[in-house]
Amino acid sequence: MADKRAPLRILLVEDDAAAAKLYRWVLMNEGFEVLLASSGEEGYALASEQTPDLIIVDVLLPGMDGYALCRRLRQNVVTRTIPILLISAKSDIADKIAGLEAGADDYLAKPFHPEELAYRVKALLARYQSPVFSGANAYARGKIIAFFSSKGGVGKTTIAVNLAVAMRRQSGSTVALFDADFFFGNVGVYLNLPTVYSVLNLVPSADHLDTVVLDQVLLPHASGIRVLLSPYYPEEAELVEAHHVEKILGALAQTYSYVLVDCQASYDERTLTVLERADVIVLITTPEVGAIKNTSRFLELAEKLAIGPERVHILVNRSDSDVGVEIGEIERTLRHPVAFQVISGGRTVVFSVNRGIPLVMDHPGHPFSQQMLAIAEELMAAMPARTVK
Ligand SMILES: Nc1ncnc2c1ncn2[C@@H]1O[C@H](COP(=O)(O)OP(=O)(O)OP(=O)(O)O)[C@@H](O)[C@H]1O
Ligand SMILES: [Mg+2]
Repeated sequence: MADKRAPLRILLVEDDAAAAKLYRWVLMNEGFEVLLASSGEEGYALASEQTPDLIIVDVLLPGMDGYALCRRLRQNVVTRTIPILLISAKSDIADKIAGLEAGADDYLAKPFHPEELAYRVKALLARYQSPVFSGANAYARGKIIAFFSSKGGVGKTTIAVNLAVAMRRQSGSTVALFDADFFFGNVGVYLNLPTVYSVLNLVPSADHLDTVVLDQVLLPHASGIRVLLSPYYPEEAELVEAHHVEKILGALAQTYSYVLVDCQASYDERTLTVLERADVIVLITTPEVGAIKNTSRFLELAEKLAIGPERVHILVNRSDSDVGVEIGEIERTLRHPVAFQVISGGRTVVFSVNRGIPLVMDHPGHPFSQQMLAIAEELMAAMPARTVK
């Protein structure tokens, strides 16, 4: 998806109106958008709401001073990774150290030439925006596996959750599970996790994610996998945009050997971003005419999106259904091989889902779990992950 880049936004926290006017002019001349705050409190509120790309903080502010503001910004998960440039009339080394200790990334002593301000801002942004987490090599490491269906309720979440646990169990590799069903994500429920943090906490710093933030926002699960939940409130789902998803996937693939993504059954731009970025799409269907028809439509779309057929692995869930369409018939209709078949695990699977404990953990010997473990092996053999970190 095209990522039309908006101008970078800088928050300037400066109580001296004349100085603020000058800095603003300098920065706008460089093409930045500038937000202004004249106190620490106002700066903190704007930073949390607007999540600018960089914050310039004057040390001497009424009320909360620049050091205190830096500390608060560093404690808040939505602002903790935003680069901060401290500016101050105090220029001795102790002041600089105090600023850096408070969490600033750079320190500029007044008076300074406007060009130096512009230079420092650009250097700081370049350092933050070019590191390992952005750019073309963002997908060079872990493998991304998307779980998708073009009809709801066919078992995506059940299978994604169990396969994530199975992959971890079989290989000991690092595994992240990303609930990209932004409206009605169920991964948290299926794994019995509280929505302490969700993908929303990554949105503000999507352009400069690092392992510290990921570590905090991805919840640890007893199985050893890490989980990135979808927003608690469906109405917040719109805040996650396709370009955020792209950046988040890049960062996850930098950090984890396998990144499993549970998608929503829709063609919105965020889902298409996941599908385009995925190394493998596990396309799930049930052996029913309606589900197969929709799956066929998806295969046509995949072709238009230049998603090669080799990346699409069809999984027929509840393939043992005695009223279902036969596998050979499905393959002929879809003109695509069926890679995996999963039996109906009956009530045991449903109970495990309701209890929030994946069947692979609870009953690894159950035929459904055995199939999950086998599919996990097969996927990993097809996509040996490079060791990440
Ligand atoms: N192989 C299976 N055996 C038994 N029950 C299953 C199986 N696969 C899925 N289910 C059950 O079917 C229900 C729907 O599954 P699930 O939530 O995983 O589907 P989904 O495709 O993620 O749905 P949605 O499109 O709403 O996200 C769940 O109660 C789950 O336990
Ligand atoms: Mg689901």
